[in-house]
Amino acid sequence: MMNDFKKILFTEEEIQNLIKELGERITNDYRGKDVVVVGMLKGGIPFMVDLIKHIKIPVTIDFMQISSFHGGRVATNLVFKKDIETNVADKHVIIVDDIVDSARTITEVFRLFETRKVASIEVACLLDKPSGRVVEFEPKYACTLVPDEFVVGYGLDYNEYYRNLPFIAVLKDEIYTD
Ligand code: IMP
Ligand code: MG
Repeated sequence: MMNDFKKILFTEEEIQNLIKELGERITNDYRGKDVVVVGMLKGGIPFMVDLIKHIKIPVTIDFMQISSFHGGRVATNLVFKKDIETNVADKHVIIVDDIVDSARTITEVFRLFETRKVASIEVACLLDKPSGRVVEFEPKYACTLVPDEFVVGYGLDYNEYYRNLPFIAVLKDEIYTD
């Protein structure tokens, strides 16, 4: 598997340091608030697991699934697959996802949560890829920016594989079948 990568963009240590910093920021910003952390299945989960350990205030967690990728790199329509079970009215919601790319997914999620009368809603993403935007959106909490390349690892997949990598990498061109 280590032969599949053209380059490593972020090492495990770099990612862990970024997540710790973000956890501290969130801890300070949300002190005294009733917080629900919503992890986006599947890509947001490895990041969420590490991030919540660095949030030093009481929170509850829940999960939501919206699929936007059909197969490999080619985006298709959004498919709503799983909703949260928590009543989020008057709660401060933090959506946790792997990456904000086109921002179509996060825009839809924000729209949905606004109908649920949340006290506030923000996104925490591991990666922000501003070059991919189709709709205007700026994530409040992003660990780091990524260039205009398809990346895998730390939750991000290609054809469902590579989510278990502890680092972020770019695949060699010959790996892609699409
Ligand atoms: P959106 O384009 O911002 O709606 O991102 C939707 C989803 O597409 C993300 O949560 C990822 O699962 C996936 N995605 C976007 N860019 C990449 C990438 O570079 N590598 C792997 N998955 C990606
Ligand atoms: Mg995803």
